[in-house]
Amino acid sequence: MRHRFHSLCPYFAMFPESFAERWIDELSKPGDIVLDPFCGRGTTPFCALQLGRRAIASDVNDVATCVTRAKTSPPVLPTLRRRITQLQNRFDGRQWAHLAASQPEFFEHAFSSRTLQQILYLRHNLDWQSSHVDAMVASLVLGSLHGESDTSKSYFSNQMPRTISTKPAYSVRFWRERRLRPPKRDVFEILAQRSAYRYETPPPHGKATVLQTDMRQLPSRLRRLRTPIRCVVTSPPYFDTTNFEEDQWLRLWFLGGPPKPAIGRQSRDDRHGHRGRYWQFISDMWRSLGALVAPGGRVIIRLGSPRIGPEALARGLAGSATCAGRRIELELTEVSRIRRRQTDAFRPGTSGCLVEVDCLFRFRD
Ligand SMILES: C[S@@+](CC[C@H](N)C(=O)[O-])C[C@H]1O[C@@H](n2cnc3c(N)ncnc32)[C@H](O)[C@@H]1O
Repeated sequence: MRHRFHSLCPYFAMFPESFAERWIDELSKPGDIVLDPFCGRGTTPFCALQLGRRAIASDVNDVATCVTRAKTSPPVLPTLRRRITQLQNRFDGRQWAHLAASQPEFFEHAFSSRTLQQILYLRHNLDWQSSHVDAMVASLVLGSLHGESDTSKSYFSNQMPRTISTKPAYSVRFWRERRLRPPKRDVFEILAQRSAYRYETPPPHGKATVLQTDMRQLPSRLRRLRTPIRCVVTSPPYFDTTNFEEDQWLRLWFLGGPPKPAIGRQSRDDRHGHRGRYWQFISDMWRSLGALVAPGGRVIIRLGSPRIGPEALARGLAGSATCAGRRIELELTEVSRIRRRQTDAFRPGTSGCLVEVDCLFRFRD
């Protein structure tokens, strides 16, 4: 059975666990450290723990680090249940009615009034940055915050895609034109149900180190690390494909961000449309890896783009690898067609990526 933590919260441009499992298994041994500097929803560190490795992960996006922390340092189920009950018992809707009524127009169409009060209460009371129990509660909220409410009762919102947050004006128009009203959902009941469902597969042993940081800062953040890193499994933002911050705006709002889409607060590297600047960013990745990866260490990178072909992507990756300041060899290139493109499902008219390329590198010294 597929582990229920994998789908805790969807993420845009995520790779499947089969990719992480295959490469962790091939490139490392039990007890080794596996690094993912662009961890997204945390598939690499989670699979690493499942396979008995240690894991270090980082990302700049709050959704990514919250969900990755929840998956890779989960509380035990009784503790999680107690926290949800405690939050439920302390909730008093009257205290949140005024704040709920003063939110931008999007929110009154997206959520019924009591659901919104509960969401606002959790938004203000969860300490997801420092408590691993609250990181799990917050991740369960993120996974249910928006989605296809016409077919599932586990989403809090009016009809929305679950993968990305559609923009406020577009969403309000969509709901108005179809006369769609927000469903009446009890957030605490859904949290209790979803936690029972997620824990039907037992969490792996061990905890990952999850850093909320730009990958350029990793060498200084990890300077005290004594164990060499010999395995990196990662996927940087694709060229001209998506902006993780904009596409996750509602989840980022829940974690403390602004009540509308924003760009550039979390990362300036999400969506490069200029090739020169994109390869500069990939060169910065190599500089960090050059300072972190031990001699003989291997790095597998998955990349894609609607505008750069797989051969050119592999050439760009190999060319920029010189910025690591070390001898690096490209050992293998594999090209795969993307079968179900998420951009097709949620962005009518967008082309998305047709192919992805996986490049395996080895640090020779
Ligand atoms: C292609 S996604 C990774 C998806 C991940 N493999 C998964 O399966 O969920 C790229 C990630 O890079 C993150 N990112 C963007 N700029 C970054 C930076 N400068 N440093 C670290 N992470 C960054 C984005 O927030 C995004 O989560």
